[in-house]
Amino acid sequence: MSVLIVCPGRDPENWVKELKNQHPGMNIYVYPEDHDNEDVEFAITWNHPRGLFKNYPNLKVIASMGAGVDHIFSDNALPEEIEVTKVVDDTLTEDMGDFVLSQVMNHIRGLHHYVKCQKEKEWDKFQYKRPQNTKVGIMGLGVLGNAVADKLHKNFFKVYGWSKTEKNCDNVNSFHGKDQLEEFLENSEILVCLLPLTKDTENILNADLFDMLPEGAYVINVARGEHLVEHDLMEMIDKGHLAGASLDVFREEPLPEEHPFWEHSKINITPHIASVTKAESVVPQIVENYERMKEGEPLKNKVEREKGY
Ligand code: NDP
Ligand code: OXD
Repeated sequence: MSVLIVCPGRDPENWVKELKNQHPGMNIYVYPEDHDNEDVEFAITWNHPRGLFKNYPNLKVIASMGAGVDHIFSDNALPEEIEVTKVVDDTLTEDMGDFVLSQVMNHIRGLHHYVKCQKEKEWDKFQYKRPQNTKVGIMGLGVLGNAVADKLHKNFFKVYGWSKTEKNCDNVNSFHGKDQLEEFLENSEILVCLLPLTKDTENILNADLFDMLPEGAYVINVARGEHLVEHDLMEMIDKGHLAGASLDVFREEPLPEEHPFWEHSKINITPHIASVTKAESVVPQIVENYERMKEGEPLKNKVEREKGY
């Protein structure tokens, strides 16, 4: 029985090292090195080549290397009976909270503005807002959205949240479903997207949605590039309805050199680093699921294929 790591474009070295450390008996292959397809029952993956897994007749589990599973479910040739798991990890969750808090603080204190001012040698004071007077709306109140909400609340922001099903979170004014989206947006002076990418959420950050945000709202997308209609965002910023955006994720990554976002003075770009999975932190849950699979026990952090997250 073998484990296959498939992560084109990512360095698998740490994963192999940690898996060997934490499960010395595990037989591991890294795609595309030579291996016996019939021997593979467990795969660990990020952005696998489409259609690959249909060539593994005994594959039972696919473990995402991250919290998102859209890169797995977007493969139309994914065999039906395979179970899929995601990462739920305290380090990943804390890092996302820190990142969003820093972006929100940067925005209300105008720190991006001063980076530009320094380049121009401009002494231009920015009238800043305080957390106590700032409403932040979080789209997606799952593992990460909840942690971000908690962190923002602890830092005195007024926190709003939107999810698919009804929630009763302490300290979050929560809304759910399409019917309550408008009311949620009206209260989002800063909008944070932490939705999973599914059929329902693709292109959700579009002109109609931005229109429902208060004048001067700021958008932070740390979920997936495909949530955002890029042209709509730029138009809404350029006509002054939105104050700007911080984008960590893009339809095409790395963001192509010629992309207009790079030059936009009100768009701040980070290279998909809001929260990065650390193999040493995540491998124990992968090893546990590998053992569970062998024993025929229910897997942890399993995602529902019908829901897509
Ligand atoms: P979860 O699955 O835990 O939570 C998803 C949340 O979104 C849930 O609250 C769910 O509602 C809500 N949701 C899903 N579909 C809809 C819908 N149609 N309408 C309204 N709400 C909806 O996900 P995580 O918190 O673990 O991760 C979120 C995403 O963050 C990942 O999918 C990934 O894309 C991104 N990510 C980005 C990283 C980065 O570095 N930029 C790092 C890690 C993750 P309900 O609770 O009612 O089901
Ligand atoms: C993830 C990510 O989904 O890194 O974990 O985006």
